[in-house]
This record gives sequence, C-alpha cells and structure tokens, in this order.
Amino acid sequence: MAPASPLSRRVRSLVVAFSVFALTVLTSNASNASWQTWGPYRPNLYFGVRPQVPETLLMGLMWASGDSRDKLLSTLRDTCEQNDGMRGYGWTYYDTRLGGSQTMHDTQLQLDLDTDFLKTEDGATWAVRITGTPDPSAPDVNTSVILHVAVENVTSNGPKSLVCEKQTEGKDGIEAVCRGEIAALGELELNVLGDAMNNLVYNTAVKSVQVPEDKIWQAKSVFIDHLRALPGNQMTLEDAAGAGNMHFVQLTFQGPFKLMLTYHGVEATPLNPNTVESGLSSLRSTFPSTVDRVFPRSSPFQQDKYAKFTQEILSNLLGGLGFFHGDTKVDYSNATEYLETDLDFWLKAQAAMARAPITTTAPLTLLTHTPSRPFFPRGFLWDEGFHLLPVIEWDLDLAVSVLQSWLNLMDEDGWIGREQILGPEARSRVPAEFHVQYPHYANPPTLSLLFPILISKLAGTSPYAGHPSTYLSSPDDASRMLKDLYPLLARHYQWFRRTQAGNFTGAYPRPEGAIAGEGFRWRGRTPMHCLTSGLDDYPRANPPHPGELHVDALAWVGASANALQQVARHLGEQADADMYEKHVAAVKHNLDALHWDAANKTYCDATIASDNYTLVCYEGYVSLFPLLLGLMDADHPNLPAVLDLLSDPAKMWSDYGLRSLSAADPNYGKDDNYWRGAVWMNLNVLAVLRLRDVGLQNPAGQGRTPVQTRALSLAAQLRERLVNTVYNSWEQTGFFWEQYSDKTGEGTHSRAFTGWTACVILLLGLQFDKTTVGRGMDIASLGSSSSTLSFFWCR
Ligand SMILES: *[C@@H]1O[C@H](CO)[C@@H](O)[C@H](O)[C@H]1NC(C)=O
Ligand SMILES: *[C@@H]1O[C@H](CO)[C@@H](O)[C@H](O)[C@H]1NC(C)=O
Ligand SMILES: *[C@@H]1O[C@H](CO)[C@@H](O)[C@H](O)[C@H]1NC(C)=O
Ligand SMILES: *[C@@H]1O[C@H](CO)[C@@H](O)[C@H](O)[C@H]1NC(C)=O
Ligand SMILES: *[C@@H]1O[C@H](CO)[C@@H](O)[C@H](O)[C@H]1NC(C)=O
Ligand SMILES: *[C@@H]1O[C@H](CO)[C@@H](O)[C@H](O)[C@H]1NC(C)=O
Ligand SMILES: *[C@@H]1O[C@H](CO)[C@@H](O)[C@H](O)[C@H]1NC(C)=O
Repeated sequence: MAPASPLSRRVRSLVVAFSVFALTVLTSNASNASWQTWGPYRPNLYFGVRPQVPETLLMGLMWASGDSRDKLLSTLRDTCEQNDGMRGYGWTYYDTRLGGSQTMHDTQLQLDLDTDFLKTEDGATWAVRITGTPDPSAPDVNTSVILHVAVENVTSNGPKSLVCEKQTEGKDGIEAVCRGEIAALGELELNVLGDAMNNLVYNTAVKSVQVPEDKIWQAKSVFIDHLRALPGNQMTLEDAAGAGNMHFVQLTFQGPFKLMLTYHGVEATPLNPNTVESGLSSLRSTFPSTVDRVFPRSSPFQQDKYAKFTQEILSNLLGGLGFFHGDTKVDYSNATEYLETDLDFWLKAQAAMARAPITTTAPLTLLTHTPSRPFFPRGFLWDEGFHLLPVIEWDLDLAVSVLQSWLNLMDEDGWIGREQILGPEARSRVPAEFHVQYPHYANPPTLSLLFPILISKLAGTSPYAGHPSTYLSSPDDASRMLKDLYPLLARHYQWFRRTQAGNFTGAYPRPEGAIAGEGFRWRGRTPMHCLTSGLDDYPRANPPHPGELHVDALAWVGASANALQQVARHLGEQADADMYEKHVAAVKHNLDALHWDAANKTYCDATIASDNYTLVCYEGYVSLFPLLLGLMDADHPNLPAVLDLLSDPAKMWSDYGLRSLSAADPNYGKDDNYWRGAVWMNLNVLAVLRLRDVGLQNPAGQGRTPVQTRALSLAAQLRERLVNTVYNSWEQTGFFWEQYSDKTGEGTHSRAFTGWTACVILLLGLQFDKTTVGRGMDIASLGSSSSTLSFFWCR
C-alpha cells in the first residue's frame, strides 16, 4: 500500500461521520464566501491562514527541534526571519485562487518542511498538508509541530466561539477537532489528521487557553510561556482541550512525517487527503503551462530552467498577499509647520512632530501584496502599483480587489498613508519611530499605472490570458467598478496636487515660459532623505529649500493625469477627460520648462540659490522619470540625451541593469548607499517597457527613426541583463533580493524580496520587433502619445 493510505482510510470514515453531523445537527448561515475568502493571508508567518474578514479566525504553524526542551524553545519557527538558518523558503507553485506548495529548507533543523495548501473556489473548505522530510544525514531527527488557531475579539461582531477536543488515540487518524461559529463565516470545523507514517513520538497535546486580546496574534510567546510553566524538561504542552480563544495542537515526530489540517463550513464536505493530493497534483501539473501561457518566454529565456524561475517568482509575489486589519497611528495635528514654507522647514516640522498628539485611528482593512515577508510584511503604496503589474496579467479580478482595497483606505481629503502598519501585529515588525503616518506626506501614486492597463484590457486593445475575469465578461460589472474607483482616483490626484504643490506665488523666481502651478515638491524632506519620494537617500538639493521643485513628483502627476484621462474617456466623461488631457500636456511642457538643464542635457530637480532659480542635477533614476512615466514621445528633442545618460557605462549603464545613481556622481555609493548606485528592478523594468514603447511608436506612419532603433536596442539589451541578474542570484542563493549590486550583480539588502523584483517576469517574453508583438496586437497602430500608456505592458 502507498504510504498515504492509512491516512486516507481514516479520512474516509471521517467524511462519513461529518456529513451525518452536518445533516442532522447544524444549520449554517447563508455563506457569502468566495475564492478570495480564505488563504495564507498572514505572509509574515512561514505559514498562516486567515479569511479576508476582520476579527475572525487566525491560524498558524510553528515548528522546532523535538530533541530537548531547550532546543525546542531556541529553534521555534513562527514569523519569517532573515537569519534563522533557512537555506531558502517560499512557494514553488502558488495560485491565489487555488493554493500551492511551499518548502522551507530548514538546514539548522536538518529538515525540509512543506506546506501544501489547497482551497475550494466556493470558499467553504481548505486544507494544509504539512510534510517533514529529514535530511538524509539525519533520518531520525525529532521535530515538534505546533498548529494554532485563535479567535479575535470573541465578544465583537456577532457570535464567535471555538471549542477543541482531543480525539481518543488513533481514532480515524484524527488527533483533534475544533468546532465553532464565527458570525461572518457560519458554523465551521477544523480537524487535525495525524501522522500517516506512525512516526509520532509523543502523544498529541491539545491545549485551549484564554488569552488577552493583545496576545491573540502572539501564539509563539503564549506557547513558550505555557511550556516554560511546565515542570522538568517536558517538551509538550499538557492536554487541556476545551473552550478558549487560542488553541494549540502539538505533535512531535521522529523521522519523516505528514499531517493535515482541514477547515470546512459545516455544510461543506471536508477535503480529505485524497482530494488534497489530487487537487495539488492537478494544480502542480497545470501551473507550469498556465504560467507559460500568461507569461510566455522568448529567446534567450526559453530553456526549462527559466520556467521554474518564472513559476517561483510569480508564486512568491502571489504568496505575499496579506489581509490586514487594525488601527494605525496618525498625526492629525495639521501643524502649520507641515506646510514647510520656511527656510529651515524640516527642523521646524521635526519640532512640531515631537509635540504633536498622535491619534490611534479606528481599524482599517487592507488586502495587499507585501514587498518582503521577513522584512516588509505590510502594505506600501509605492510598491503595490508595481506588484500589481504582473498580478493584473495573471488574475485581473484579484488585481482589482487589491486596487479597491487600497483606494478605499483614502480619507475624505484624498490622503492614503504611504505605509500601512495596521494593528499591533504589523506594528511589532516596525521600529516605533516609523509608526506614525502624516497626512501631508505623499508617496508615488503607483496605482495610477494600473488604470491604463485595466482600460486597455476592458476595451480589448491588449490581450489577457489570465484567470477568467468577471469584469472582462460583464461590461456592467466593469463600469460599476470603474465608476466607484474613478472618484477615488480623482480625489487622491487632487489631494496630491494640493498638498505637494510647488510654490508659484511669486515668492520665488520661476523660468519664463513655465506654466504656473504645474510644478511639485515632495513634502517630508530632510537634508539626507526624501522618504516620501520612495527614493529615500537619492541626492537632492542640499540644504532643502521651500522653493524646490522635484522632477519625479511632476512626472507622477503626469502619470496620474494620464490614468484619469483614460478612465474618464472610457466612462464617457468627456469634459473631465479633456481637462486631464490638458494637465498631461501642461506637465509635459513643464518637465522641459522647469526641469530640463540645457547645459548638462539632463532632467534635474530645481531649487533657489542666491534668489535665482537653479537646477540641481544628480544624474540617475530621477533624471529618467519623464521617460519612465510615459511623458516623452519618440520625437521628443531631449530623448537622445536621455538615452545617452542611461546607456553610458560611466554613468547609469551597468552589466546588471541601470544604476540608481550615476557612477560619475560624487554621491555614488556614499552614506546609506540605498538609492545611490544599486540596481532596482521596479524602475529598470519600467525603463525596458518604456524604451520599447518609444521604439515601437509610429505616430506619423513613417518608418522607425534612428533614435527609435536605438531605444529598442537598449531595451533589448537591458531586458537580458535584468533577467540574468535576478536569475543568477536566485540560482546561487535561493532568494530574490531587494536590489542588486551594479558591480557584481549580487542580491543586496533584504532577501526573500519578491515584491517588485517580481516585475522582471514581464520581461521574459518581451519581443522588440513590431512584426512579432504577439497575439495579433499591432502596437504601433495605437499611435499617439496619450494612448501610449495603455499598451506598453503588452507582449
Ligand atoms: C459576508 O457578508 C457580511 C455582511 O455583509 C460581511 O460582514 C462578511 O465579512 C462577509 N463575509 C465574507 C466571507 O465575505
Ligand atoms: C477588537 O475590538 C477592539 C474594540 O472594538 C478594537 O479596537 C480592535 O481593533 C479589535 N481587534 C481586532 C484585531 O480587530
Ligand atoms: C529523538 O526522540 C527519541 C524518542 O524520544 C529519542 O530517543 C532520541 O534520542 C531523540 N533524538 C535526539 C537526537 O535527541
Ligand atoms: C490644514 O490646515 C490648513 C491651513 O493651515 C487648511 O487649509 C487645511 O484644510 C487643513 N487640513 C486639514 C485636513 O484639516
Ligand atoms: C510661498 O512662499 C512664501 C515665501 O516663503 C510663503 O510666504 C508662502 O506662504 C508660500 N506659499 C505657499 C502656497 O506655499
Ligand atoms: C551642469 O552644468 C554646469 C554648467 O555647465 C556645470 O558646472 C555642472 O558641473 C554640470 N553638472 C553636472 C551634474 O554635470
Ligand atoms: C541671480 O540672478 C541675477 C539676475 O536676476 C544675477 O544678477 C545674479 O548674478 C544671479 N546670481 C547667481 C548666483 O547666478
């Protein structure tokens, strides 16, 4: 018999037992659950499941050495960490709608641990199978596995209860059952199915406890406290199953093991090991071809080794999706110092912040992908727009859900906090000095990048090969969705224009010919940092000046106006569309009138020096923003100079991608050295796509100009360098990284960074010849500048 069969046999009787139970005992609330409801939406944990419903059920997995109590306590794995002896971990395949498989290579514990998660599309059931495979050199290694389930805020939001029970030894292979009710989910049941290989060392322990609300997400510390309280060197909790708001099931194994946790609404048939096995194996076998279809690979990336790479980078981007709910800290003082009008504004703002009262808001809810599970397990506005670029190709409805969730965070003014640290669990991962969000601080409005893509897919002008989409199949649903989002997008845009406005009152000189009012300045600068721009330590005018204008801030306004223009046009709001189109034109005009340094032939920030309007040039990503955000056409007179800058090996062009700061800049590699040379994939991918876009334009219906040929050639070269950089580093280290060294291509800063680094997936199939654009799309025929944004992602 196959090794899994004892478990299967047990479960067959389990299924029978529960269908009887369901028919006779309980009636469920009408469930509105869907494929989105359940998932491993606690990406800060190695494995943790929760529904997209606030104040409900939190499930998590911990494991540790089972050799001794001391070892158990010192090796207990819970949250993803940078340095706990893993040789790599992450999803080898994962689809947000269905589930997937994650492996943790736990070298310290001499074990590979797999968590295979499967859910049904009706949202009524899910299961996780946990498999431990000892290293061949340590076949008898002991491992303790702790599953935990907690119920948040038992007394709020309707009836909630969970009662666990230990099953008599061996019965049907079920070690523990928890039954309960959560208002939003109805009556439910969880089962822990034990070891199919009979490798349990100790009796399974089931312990139910009541913890204060602030401990509800701290299963590890609750577990440790309870274990420490036991006498001697006991390694398992004492049995004490029953009612409580936190429940532990601890199993200790010697050698290989396999166990499963299943969830089901009482009216649903629970998943059993056979269905899980067959569900996972069909997912495993279809996933590669689905990925190939959505993200096709072209030369020179057709080899099989790139298939696994593509699957992993996508799986880990998707597997970083989290659902967050909780309060956040905001400084609503709106101190006049926050207008930042004085010459020493940053000092005055700091002083005002030190005395400002901090408000703890009502709980907010956010569905978001996360930049990095160990290091940044929370929502970042600047990152999310990039995360969604691959996601919208894979699963348009999922991307829309995330867009909606982010835009719904907006307050009445139009502000969205740039970093969403919701609730104490999220806060526990952030130093206290960064908790407070400021309503005068902006962040690049990257969500704008998604709207032209969304519109082009709705209009059928760009292909879509992802999961079937309700919006693409129902124009009514699509227009309702857009009508809801459009005013939010517009409000955020107006907020940005108002709060990040440059000073055009006449207090400072402005170049002749510039359009008054169409210039912007990031608030929140200090001499060394402009965190709000997203480019942290990228050099800017020093000292900061209240008369400054930032080229990237203006370009983001242009990108947002372009997005709004397209949405308005799609919705038939012609007057609005005309207005936004004028904004785009004004932005384009002022990029040149305010920010083009004709002597240095580069786009620059501007400041006031000796009462004069003065450009301050630090060549690097900031100089590329007019191109990166689609605001330069193929016939733009400054395009050749921009191409010179980015292709100059002494400046931005490196073997591994575009340097964030020119190697010729005196600040290159200095101080924090964060955005001062390293290669970042988000803006590099944008560069490839824009260069290609410019190269394929053909507004006048003529042949390709020399500058277009050059742009295409640069795009093609850059594409290969970027993919090779991320691929080689992944092959060597097992990880994707936050940024890459421009000198060696090594991954640097945070590892397990599958946020925007995953954007390279958009490059694998990119082709540069108009005749091979693919899927019948004639990109060049789309023509003029205002529509360039709508097709530049297409393959
Ligand atoms: C079901 O609907 C209720 C009421 O609208 C809501 O509170 C709950 O969160 C929903 N549950 C799910 C799983 O979407
Ligand atoms: C629990 O309820 C309290 C009071 O209503 C609320 O402040 C807190 O945010 C809730 N906790 C969660 C996790 O939702
Ligand atoms: C593993 O557990 C077994 C049973 O308790 C024990 O005999 C053995 O010594 C343990 N192995 C190690 C390496 O501690
Ligand atoms: C902040 O104060 C300014 C005046 O200093 C006022 O115009 C603005 O409306 C205030 N914003 C909020 C959100 O209260
Ligand atoms: C513009 O700068 C002047 C001089 O510092 C200042 O008085 C004024 O308040 C500023 N206006 C705006 C809108 O920032
Ligand atoms: C820009 O041009 C000015 C004048 O030609 C020159 O002094 C300065 O060094 C140049 N700056 C850069 C960054 O090239
Ligand atoms: C500033 O501009 C004035 C004329 O507007 C000029 O006389 C002066 O030389 C300029 N100063 C600098 C430092 O360029």
